[in-house]
Amino acid sequence: MLIAATTQRTIGFVILAIVFAGGLLYLYFNIRGAKAEVGSEIELAANRAPHLSDEELEGRHLDRSLAAGLVLLTVVSVSLPIYWLGEPGRHDGLIADTDRVFADRGGELYTTGASCVSCHGPDGTGGSISKSLLNSEGEFLAQVTWKAPALNTVLSRLSEDEVLHVLNFGRNGVMPAWGAPGGGPLSEQELETAIFYMRRIQIGEAAIRAEVSQGVRDGVAKKLIAESSADWAIAIREAEDGEALNAANAAGADQLEAAIDQWLGSKDSAIARAEQIALSNDPALVARVDAAASEADKAAVQAEVDSAALELLAQPGLVPDSQIYLDYGEILFANEAASGTYSCARCHTFGWSYDATAPRTIADNGTETPLLTDYVQGGGFFGPNLTNGTTLDEFESATQHAEFVTNGQSIGQPYGKGGSGGNGQMPGFGPRTDDDLGVTYPGLLTSEQINAIVAFERNL
Ligand code: HEC
Ligand code: HEC
Repeated sequence: MLIAATTQRTIGFVILAIVFAGGLLYLYFNIRGAKAEVGSEIELAANRAPHLSDEELEGRHLDRSLAAGLVLLTVVSVSLPIYWLGEPGRHDGLIADTDRVFADRGGELYTTGASCVSCHGPDGTGGSISKSLLNSEGEFLAQVTWKAPALNTVLSRLSEDEVLHVLNFGRNGVMPAWGAPGGGPLSEQELETAIFYMRRIQIGEAAIRAEVSQGVRDGVAKKLIAESSADWAIAIREAEDGEALNAANAAGADQLEAAIDQWLGSKDSAIARAEQIALSNDPALVARVDAAASEADKAAVQAEVDSAALELLAQPGLVPDSQIYLDYGEILFANEAASGTYSCARCHTFGWSYDATAPRTIADNGTETPLLTDYVQGGGFFGPNLTNGTTLDEFESATQHAEFVTNGQSIGQPYGKGGSGGNGQMPGFGPRTDDDLGVTYPGLLTSEQINAIVAFERNL
């Protein structure tokens, strides 16, 4: 720690070395140049009382006092610069320690003080809340289970200021308002500690990719079980009770996994076809692909090919069998993983957060109450309605649309053609760099995944 090479420390060591060498030189010349004390030969004057003799004054007693003084002086003169050298380390240590104490306090708030854990799950892995739905007259409609997103990836999608906004004001009557501006019980500093705690629990890129992929596989499985004409799928669909369903699931497990892999493979083929068409449409792009030599050039030109393929896939009928790509986009749009954290549906589809994914009525106290008469994927909820080509009007190209979804909407920043530039609550799904902390959080989705969602949205 002490030897670590910061500029300040290097300067410190150089000064220390110079002082040491100078001190030694001074000592050397001082001893060499020593003369007998002036006046030592003079006898004591008659009118002066004799004091202690030179032998007594300059004996071992004095030598010892002087030596002790010298030792002390050396200790002080050496330890002061050394103390100074350790100052940056102490400073860093203090900051780390304060951060740790803050995150600890935020952790206590999370688990006990404000019980965030009861809705958002242990370590922010996602959970749910039981919520009473009321109709416009305030009458009870139904008790539902509402998804509460994971917070262990929240700093990938929202800045700390944007998180603070949600903490202050809550959301949709399910996330309570915690801060004074929204009429909540917690102080500004308590909210700050909660954010420090969130910094501590963020998970890495590999864990995020694994969760999203598992959510996609689950979504594909659901689709295949509902639609496939294979025997194993029919057996699962037609199982009459829980026991038969378990048996059919177990019997069809291997075929299901193989069918999911095949489905995802067909999706990849659709992308590959779109890339080929994009290249055959644009000889200049082919030339740039051939010319790319360095890894960076190759990545840049591949991004161009991806964009060109996306523009084709986002329009109906330009790429054979592209429907599977749009289906893939919808599965990502409504990804159930980690309590819907990676989904778009939780904010853009009314009813999705409490699994009202089909028109249905609820039998309550003997009366049938319409809970949801119409289910429209992307029809708007907390975020705007994305259907009927609204996103085509908002973003001229699919590439611009994808850029918006990658970066999200920041507080006070306008977007697209008529975007509000409001409160920054549309998350960014690509990586996010926090300039103040010098940290980059991994994206929730890869650009391949964002592109598929964009193509799906442009066809809503
Ligand atoms: C009563 C349940 C409940 C409690 C307690 C609760 N939350 Fe929430 N929170 C939710 C729900 C539900 C949502 C999602 C709202 C929606 O569907 O729009 C949410 C959303 C959020 C979001 C926005 C995340 C995103 O990606 O959209 C943050 C941040 C958050 N909560 C933090 C906290 C913190 C910190 C605490 C504790 C101080 C807390 N919440 C306590 C239910 C709760
Ligand atoms: C936490 C809630 C939330 C989630 C999750 C969310 N959005 Fe949004 N989205 C919003 C809000 C709020 C706006 C409006 C922003 C504004 O007006 O400032 C918005 C705006 C948009 C718009 C612009 C629409 C228009 O016509 O102006 C698009 C496109 C969009 N979102 C796509 C997505 C996609 C794709 C996802 C998932 C990958 C997603 N959103 C997930 C809240 C959300």
